[in-house]
Amino acid sequence: MDSIWSEHVQGVMTLYLSRKLRFDDHFFAQYDQIFRLDHNKELRILEIGCGPGALAESLHRWYPKARITAIDRDSNFIAFARNNIAGISFVEGDATHLPFENDFFDVTISNTVQEHVEPTAFWSEQRRVLKPEGVCLCLSARKGIQCTAPCLEITSEEKEFWDSIPQTEDELEKYGVCQYPMSEAELPASMEKHGFMSVTTGYAIIDLTPDATKYSNKVAEAMIEADRWSSLEAIKSAHSDHADKAIAAVNHKYDERLGLYRAGKKQWDTSVSITMVIRGIK
Ligand SMILES: C[S@@+](CC[C@H](N)C(=O)[O-])C[C@H]1O[C@@H](n2cnc3c(N)ncnc32)[C@H](O)[C@@H]1O
Repeated sequence: MDSIWSEHVQGVMTLYLSRKLRFDDHFFAQYDQIFRLDHNKELRILEIGCGPGALAESLHRWYPKARITAIDRDSNFIAFARNNIAGISFVEGDATHLPFENDFFDVTISNTVQEHVEPTAFWSEQRRVLKPEGVCLCLSARKGIQCTAPCLEITSEEKEFWDSIPQTEDELEKYGVCQYPMSEAELPASMEKHGFMSVTTGYAIIDLTPDATKYSNKVAEAMIEADRWSSLEAIKSAHSDHADKAIAAVNHKYDERLGLYRAGKKQWDTSVSITMVIRGIK
């Protein structure tokens, strides 16, 4: 039983809602062009470090003939995924000791996991469970653009709250977060070094701008709510008894942002993320 990530690093809803947007159908054409997977084949797909399951859920929609298995070592994520997402086999387990036989999957895929797992184990375990000529897809978040609406700037209540929380410098290191970061050049080189062939790279641009008219009301409001959850779960993860004022301030400012959106008062706040995809063949 491991719940370090969901309790101390990123909460269930933070990951689920943000990834539901990142893997919304709106962006599928971009991923599809880079993934180059056969929609008509009954692919066996394994997602590594699936978190609460949003990417696996989208893969299930995008590749309806595929049989999808998804693994993560955090029990809260796996419990949430099992309770909320149908049609996928969610497994609690370790990416460095995959509980699957050799040459079993057609595709392995991961999103923002590589930087947290020791590289030789990360690549070689995927290579082991992939069939010959199987496809490994590694998705990695790159620096994007953030522009906040004035009403969403940090409030005095939040600032007071965060100032009251003792920050130890090695907080994330303690939880094994981002121990193996790689640049855009190092990532494909690392994949090649670990035996993958025909390595290619591509980039998907995920533009989350609630006021852009290309998005439905539902998607636009989901963008605002995903950010609300991220702020709320960050406060909760500090495990403080003095969080009430900060939580109320966060809810108030996101209610205001929703009100402005519904009233058609455009703020043009935006979050543009860039997902690098490295693709290699066993
Ligand atoms: C940044 S989160 C990304 C989660 C998910 N891929 C997503 O995009 O929502 C990193 C995930 O990797 C998982 N993880 C880290 N090391 C792992 C390991 N050795 N085995 C399995 N999962 C691991 C964490 O539990 C966490 O869910």
